[in-house]
Amino acid sequence: MFYSKELDTLRSSLRYRERQLYSDKIVDLASNDYLGLAYNKEILARAIEHIDTSAPHSPAASMLINGYHKIHKEFEDELCAANGFESGVVVGSGFCANIALIETLVRRSDELFIDQSYHASGILASKLIGGKVSTFEHNNMRQLESFLKNSTAHRRIVAVEGVYSMGGDLVDKEVFELAQRYDAILIVDEAHSSGVVGDRLLGVFDLYNITPTHRHIKMGTLGKAYGSFGSYILSSAHINEYLINRAKPIIYATAPSLIQTAIALESLRYIGENLAPLRAKIDRRKAIAKEILGVEPDALILNIPQVDTDSAMKVKEKLLEEKILVAAIRPPTVPRSIVRMILRVAVKEQDISKACFSIASLDVSTDLCLSI
Ligand SMILES: Cc1ncc(COP(=O)(O)O)c(C=O)c1O
Repeated sequence: MFYSKELDTLRSSLRYRERQLYSDKIVDLASNDYLGLAYNKEILARAIEHIDTSAPHSPAASMLINGYHKIHKEFEDELCAANGFESGVVVGSGFCANIALIETLVRRSDELFIDQSYHASGILASKLIGGKVSTFEHNNMRQLESFLKNSTAHRRIVAVEGVYSMGGDLVDKEVFELAQRYDAILIVDEAHSSGVVGDRLLGVFDLYNITPTHRHIKMGTLGKAYGSFGSYILSSAHINEYLINRAKPIIYATAPSLIQTAIALESLRYIGENLAPLRAKIDRRKAIAKEILGVEPDALILNIPQVDTDSAMKVKEKLLEEKILVAAIRPPTVPRSIVRMILRVAVKEQDISKACFSIASLDVSTDLCLSI
C-alpha cells in the first residue's frame, strides 16, 4: 500500500489518529462549544426563520460573483458595531481566514512575526509567503520587541492568539503597545477568546480595553463559542478592501454557508442579551477548577501537561470510563502531550467538579504531571 510505512510509524509512536463517534450521553469536556450554543434550539429556530424569509438558502457562488448575501452583510455589520471595527468580511472557516490573512498581507519585502504557539493554519500560511518569517518564543514580548527593533522590512505584521488554543493562556497585553511603537499590523486570532473573555464577552480587545485602530485585525471563528461554523475578519476599511481584492480563500471559494452565518448572527445577539448569566457561569467554572486543582485558567481551557503520550491517552481512557470526554493532544500538535479539558458552560457544575476530582486523584507520580 502507498502509505503503509508512514501509518506504521504513526502507530508505533502513539501518534495514529482516528475519528470516533461518541455517545451523546457522554459529558463533553472536549468540544469548543464554550457557551453551549451549539445545542440552543431557539437560536437554530431563529436562524431558520431568517433563512426562510430571505431566499436562497445557499450562496452558490463566490462573494465576488453573486454569493454575497444580505445575511453575510448583516452579520458583518453587527460584528463591526459590537467590536468597534470599521469593516468585516465573513470567511468559510478560521483555517481559511488565517491562510487569507497571512498569505495576502505579508508581501515579499515584509516581515511576519508569529508566536511559536500560533495555530497550525497560521504556521502553514507562513510557509507559503514570500516575505521573511520570524517566529518568537511563546508570549515572549522581549524577544518580539528585539525582532521588531532590528527589522528592516517594508511592513511588519505580528500574529498572536487572544487565548492560545492549547495552552489556554492569554496573549500578553504588551503586544498592543509593541505593535503601536514599531508601527506594525497586529493580527489577533480570537478563536478561543471571543465569547469567553472580556466584560462583553467579545475577546481580548474587550478584556484589555483596546480601541481598534487601523493597525488592528481581529479574526474569529464561528465554530466555537458562536455554536456555528465559519469565520470572520474585522479590520480597517482599507485592509478589508485589500483582502477582498487579493485573498484567495475569499475570492476563489463559495461564500460562507447562509444558515451557519444566520446561526452565528443569532448567537452574537444571544450573547449580547445574556451577558450577566453567561459571565457568571464562566466564572463559576473557572472557580471550580481553582478550588479542586489549585489553578484558575485564563479562559475556559484547562491544559494539563503529561509526562508522555502514553499518560495522556491513559488519562483520557480513565475519564471515558467515567463517561467524561476530554481531549488527549499529542505531538506534533503540541511539543509535549497534554490533556485538554474545556470547562463548557453547558456542562453541569457537579460534572465539572467530578472531572476535576478525577484528574486530581490520578497517580501524579506515575501518570500525571499536574502543573497547569
Ligand atoms: C486558534 C485557532 N485558530 C483557527 C482555528 C481554525 O478555525 P476553524 O475551525 O473555524 O477552521 C482554530 C481551530 O479550529 C483555532 O483553534
